[in-house]
Amino acid sequence: MTLWDKGGPVDAAIVRFCTGNDPELDAVLIPFDVAGSIAHVRMLGRLRLLTAREVARLRRELTAIRALHEAGRFSIRPEDEDVHTAIERRLTERLGDTGRRVHTGRSRNDQVLTALRLYGRETLLDVTEAALALGASAARFAARHARTPMPGYTHTRRAMPSSFGFWAGAFAEAIVDDVAGLRAAWDLLDQSPLGAAAGFGTLLPLDRAFTARLLGFSRVQRNAQHVQNSRGKIEAAVLAACTQPLATAHRMAVDLIWYSTPEFGFVRLPDRFCTGSSLMPNKRNPDVLELIRAACPAVCADEFRIKSLLAGLPSGYNRDLQLTKEPFLRGLRSSRDALAIAARVLDGVEVDAARARAACTPEIFATDAALEAARQGVPFRSAYRAAAATLASLAASDPAANIARKRHVGAPGNLDLRTTRAALGAQGRWVRSTRARIARAMRNL
Ligand code: ARG
Repeated sequence: MTLWDKGGPVDAAIVRFCTGNDPELDAVLIPFDVAGSIAHVRMLGRLRLLTAREVARLRRELTAIRALHEAGRFSIRPEDEDVHTAIERRLTERLGDTGRRVHTGRSRNDQVLTALRLYGRETLLDVTEAALALGASAARFAARHARTPMPGYTHTRRAMPSSFGFWAGAFAEAIVDDVAGLRAAWDLLDQSPLGAAAGFGTLLPLDRAFTARLLGFSRVQRNAQHVQNSRGKIEAAVLAACTQPLATAHRMAVDLIWYSTPEFGFVRLPDRFCTGSSLMPNKRNPDVLELIRAACPAVCADEFRIKSLLAGLPSGYNRDLQLTKEPFLRGLRSSRDALAIAARVLDGVEVDAARARAACTPEIFATDAALEAARQGVPFRSAYRAAAATLASLAASDPAANIARKRHVGAPGNLDLRTTRAALGAQGRWVRSTRARIARAMRNL
């Protein structure tokens, strides 16, 4: 029986269509819907809308549902419509009228928002941790190869002397920026929608600050209409933030795919990271890098799927919003998985220093030759033209010595990994303390 059953018949095909794939998708939301329900029940107890005994029985049953779910023994049946219905059905089966009271003063509209926000809050921390793992891995790679030369490229053409340390250090520093964006998105998730009910508040004196505190939210998202209107909007902002570290991983993967070709040969992807062809016995393929590369556009598509669904929606809940759930869940998972695997791959990449050094051909020192002349007083434009005219006769220089001389802030000879590491470290501490704060709230529910 649906929660909105009023006695009359409803076309079964239409109910099935409206339910869509919610029963499968909602499985991951079970513990989070349980948490939201416990907070709501405790709040109803405070308002004397439930007796202390009823609160205790509901909490016990809700905790049992979570345990059943963890044991793989709680399922959302297709006729349940969604996780909210499945949980209320179970509470009513077990507790009769006490179960029938649980929905007092709430709507599935604020319930689903709460469950998604709790899920998003935890999973975005996983994404952040995975991004930081990639940053740490890039910093380690940079330290290992701080002085190992390779050509730097613009327009996919050799440009100037660079190093593997410089290349990887760029990704480590990029992750610091990317994680700042993830934290800003996390802050949007860190506000409680519970108690907005259908989007208009209720007649009951709901204590929203109390439920927010119980669930470990740092604040209440206030205007109930705004709460409802933020469905999908916050999800899109979260995925947009995820696409930033994914863009970093994307670029790294693109480079590594090229650098590991026999044509470049700058790096080797160990065999244990490569997958094969079913037909061509000779192939060892960088599928893992290609899928890391694909994660960014895939999550951008999830973000835009959500944004597209919002276009033209009037204020208040609209069922269209149900379709924002799948891209949100999928986008978060893809982000977490791609970033975590990218860190693992980078840790295993081997450098062929000789091949990379051999690619540091004389012409990539032309800019430095011109600048050297400029330092000695030749007007730069004349020095530039002189270097261009003598490109063919430029003598090969030592790229390692060249790099070592470039010492200004951010130059290849001055990686300053310490500053990058300190920033990554501070962000890591934020993840750990935030996780601990949430875990404490969940334990005390
Ligand atoms: N499955 C629904 C969703 O994700 C739950 C909310 C249903 N609310 C409603 N008014 N029909 O949006």
